[in-house]
Amino acid sequence: MLNLTIDGKKVSVEKGTTVLHAARKLGIEIPTLCYHEGVSPYGACRVCLVEVVKGIKTGLTTSCTCLAEEGMEVKSDSPRVLESRKLMVELLLARCPEAEKVKDLARKMGIEGVRFKREDKECILCGLCVRVCQEIIEASVIGFINRGANREVETPFQAQSDVCIGCGACSSVCPTEAIKIKEMFDKRILETWHTELELKSCKICGRYFVPKKELEHLKEKIELPEDIFEICTDCKRKSLTGKIGEIKTGAI
Ligand code: SF4
Ligand code: FES
Repeated sequence: MLNLTIDGKKVSVEKGTTVLHAARKLGIEIPTLCYHEGVSPYGACRVCLVEVVKGIKTGLTTSCTCLAEEGMEVKSDSPRVLESRKLMVELLLARCPEAEKVKDLARKMGIEGVRFKREDKECILCGLCVRVCQEIIEASVIGFINRGANREVETPFQAQSDVCIGCGACSSVCPTEAIKIKEMFDKRILETWHTELELKSCKICGRYFVPKKELEHLKEKIELPEDIFEICTDCKRKSLTGKIGEIKTGAI
């Protein structure tokens, strides 16, 4: 175990624990935007900044990527930390003024206006969608393209992807709701990724419910009875409720 101090409170954590997790163990709340338990940390948004004291030197670092060390002293609420986080959020707010999570953080931090040029973008370039698609779905449909002000997340050649399974994991983790997905009759349309996928209809109710490609992907990953993949969640639930009812009435 490693022993460190955060805001004057002592905590012991296992080797490999991040400062963010050590702080959470102490009940210290550090804001995050690009961090997600399920994927590797990336350190993109910098709203989780903390100050690490080493002898007479102190430095700012992202707590989601910084590993705890023996004897480490961390400050999560020093004036320098709070000011730096505020600046990061102000920059994000200038980039994505309509993003609810960013607006919410800004409100909590007392940011009333932005001193930077407003951009009206939707993506904060946190890379969560890229990491989820790569590390969890193992599809690597999207990635960063360009540099500097033109950096964005895209499919190769900004064209329809032939590896996207349409699962929507990217959209579910996006902190700014920048990834647009809609369904039209028998199609799932991932507008942001220029991709359209055919949906499968439920064997029982006939409703289109899941992209065929996603089903194929699941079949390869999990061994389950074929029927599981043919029936929508509602019909599965109804059939399960029916079975429970039959058990209760003694019909089974
Ligand atoms: S689209 Fe969303 S999840 Fe992907 S990088 Fe942009 S803000 Fe992050
Ligand atoms: S949450 Fe740590 S850099 Fe974004």
